[in-house]
Amino acid sequence: MNLTELISLEDRYQLLTYKKFPLDVVRGKGKYVYDSEGKEYLDLYGGHAVVSIGHCHPKLVKAIQDQAEKLIFYSNAVYSPIRAELSKLLVEVAPKGIGAVFFSNSGAEANETALKIARKFTGREEIISMENSFHGRTVGSLSVTGAKKYRDQVRPLLDCKFVPFGDLESVRNSISERTAAVMVEAIQSLAGVYMAKQGYYQGLQKLCEEKGALLIFDEVQTMPGRTGAMFACNNWEVTPDLITTAKGIAGGIPMGVTFVKEEIAKTITYGEQGSTFGGGQIACAASKATLEVIQEEKLVENARSVGEYALKIISEVPKVKEVRGLGLLIGVETDLPGGEVQKKLLSKGILVGTSDHPKTIRLLPPLIIERTDIDRFTNELRKIL
Ligand SMILES: Cc1ncc(COP(=O)(O)O)c(C=O)c1O
Repeated sequence: MNLTELISLEDRYQLLTYKKFPLDVVRGKGKYVYDSEGKEYLDLYGGHAVVSIGHCHPKLVKAIQDQAEKLIFYSNAVYSPIRAELSKLLVEVAPKGIGAVFFSNSGAEANETALKIARKFTGREEIISMENSFHGRTVGSLSVTGAKKYRDQVRPLLDCKFVPFGDLESVRNSISERTAAVMVEAIQSLAGVYMAKQGYYQGLQKLCEEKGALLIFDEVQTMPGRTGAMFACNNWEVTPDLITTAKGIAGGIPMGVTFVKEEIAKTITYGEQGSTFGGGQIACAASKATLEVIQEEKLVENARSVGEYALKIISEVPKVKEVRGLGLLIGVETDLPGGEVQKKLLSKGILVGTSDHPKTIRLLPPLIIERTDIDRFTNELRKIL
């Protein structure tokens, strides 16, 4: 089947909800993916921040194969050694104070879980979230998504107050004894990669403590390791009450995780939350292998040092207006439409993402990339601009 035939086949039978690269990816190895004609692409998009340890890492492949031979799935109605081992590992790497995890299958579900827990724990309804944020497509997570274009098609949603991201005063003016939680993306990625100033995140924690509201960090893109710290909140020495992750946590196998502070975890009892597939054995084996590779190959440190290098050298390219981000979550704003830059890079064998900012492209690569990959990207970008 050639690419034209493939496009018409897939588009005929699938809802047309995704704008796709004109590309078929059939194989991946490390930081590269390959199309059906064998053309190689440097993957600086990481399948949207999912391929955290690179494509088909041998240890991840083996963990999935070994687990598949033993047991592919059994539900949360029974105990499971691999689920137990992963839960322990996750709580051990989490910020101090986190006591337990809940497994689901996606970022949206991890966020739904966090919102439910916050509302039940506080007995309050109101959520404060940030303008231009993105938290997922289910009704609950969409309700706290500040980016209007995703929300406006589906009304009514749950009540949520939106305040400008990075502006502590607005939160101070909005938060009250009615607030169940303040929800924030550690770094606003889809918006165009925006990070708040030093002091903001600690300020949010303090305001939440004063009003008895919970602080929820959406780390769906940032944990594990992407910002050069295992959790982005480590960068600001904040321990949120609830932290969510998904994307890269199992190296490409679906998994969502909601991390819950000890004192909140203790209040949660049988039947309050559930997910058939959450904590399935293949996903747990994949996640455990992913975290072990991240630790053994020092990928958090790599994300930090390659990320620092990238911020510096990309910002030296003439016509780059701004480079934003932390570690290997990077937004590059130029004076050209993001889609145009993306298309030109694709023709040079480099995959990058776009964003909701019309002139910002995003790099969300596997955490294994090296400085030479950034050099290659930067040289091509320079020529394009
Ligand atoms: C910050 C953030 N939160 C939540 C989500 C939703 O995750 P999922 O698509 O796995 O439901 C995303 C997805 O892009 C995200 O970037």
